[in-house]
Amino acid sequence: MASKVPITVTVNGNRREAEVEARLLLVHFLRESLGLTGTHVGCDTSNCSACAVLMDGKVVKSCTVLAVQADGRDILTVEGLATGGGLHPVQEAFIAKHGLQCGFCTPRRTGTRQRTRSGREYRGTSAGARVTRR
Ligand code: FES
Repeated sequence: MASKVPITVTVNGNRREAEVEARLLLVHFLRESLGLTGTHVGCDTSNCSACAVLMDGKVVKSCTVLAVQADGRDILTVEGLATGGGLHPVQEAFIAKHGLQCGFCTPRRTGTRQRTRSGREYRGTSAGARVTRR
């Protein structure tokens, strides 16, 4: 049996402690250990990005990151977008503008689009998400 490694990760604002196998991928930690199934596995080749989440504000493919590499980091999944019972403006915009196709990668697309590459955050309404400085 493989030895376990203790990790502490902040996921969607909640501090989570766990002991994981060193080879466990972050995507499997999120889905199977934490029950956050909005992050999907879409391929076996790290090409699709269905598994993308934000780690310390930067987009990472969670199928290429080990859970132990997330130790001490801040992870945001699609489940962490909505606050106060309402959808994030990007989620509202996806609905208003029919921004999904089959829907499989929609959690990734909305979850990672709430920030731009420059770190600015999308805010606004379904009528028009806008970018604001953070
Ligand atoms: S599951 Fe396809 S890139 Fe991660």
